[in-house]
Amino acid sequence: MNIVIREANSIDIENIAYIEEECFSTPWSAKSLFESFSHTPWHFFVAECDGRVVGYGGVYLILDEGQISNIAVLPAFRGKQIGFKILDRIITLCKNEGCAKITLELRKSNTIARSLYEKCGFVAVGERPNFYSSPCESAILMDKSL
Ligand SMILES: CC(C)(COP(=O)(O)OP(=O)(O)OC[C@H]1O[C@@H](n2cnc3c(N)ncnc32)[C@H](O)[C@@H]1OP(=O)(O)O)[C@@H](O)C(=O)NCCC(=O)NCCS
Repeated sequence: MNIVIREANSIDIENIAYIEEECFSTPWSAKSLFESFSHTPWHFFVAECDGRVVGYGGVYLILDEGQISNIAVLPAFRGKQIGFKILDRIITLCKNEGCAKITLELRKSNTIARSLYEKCGFVAVGERPNFYSSPCESAILMDKSL
């Protein structure tokens, strides 16, 4: 299994929208993704497995901070270090761009993603009650200092 992580381009939007639909209850639409792609502070990466796009991650750079929007891997391809490789690539980008820290939020019940982020040095720094809908749930805020 050959995994390649690369910077995404607009040709990848349909595949990323598909991953969003498969992985989240309130997915980003192709239209929202397209709008983000045209804003330079956004960076998206995709993971290709034997040429097929099976995962992606997005980060928004603002001032000296990187804000991760989402990282997602299609269910059939999980547990193969693909999420880790995407996150590692995002961390490297943020370091190279001179960010002082990376932030993100995730559902309180999402222990798998939390474990991935903790493995990469993120720590929980707060909680935002009732932040998510479908279903309603609190967000855990996590940071990593660079
Ligand atoms: C979170 C997600 C991206 C992880 O991707 P993945 O490719 O399956 O994860 P990896 O194989 O790279 O695993 C990296 C680490 O994640 C954690 N992890 C992954 N699968 C796990 C599981 N089933 N149980 C517990 N921890 C798990 C572990 O810390 C793992 O490190 P380890 O292999 O040293 O134990 C994936 O589960 C996913 O797409 N989930 C749905 C979308 C989502 O919730 N995204 C996060 C929103 S911010």
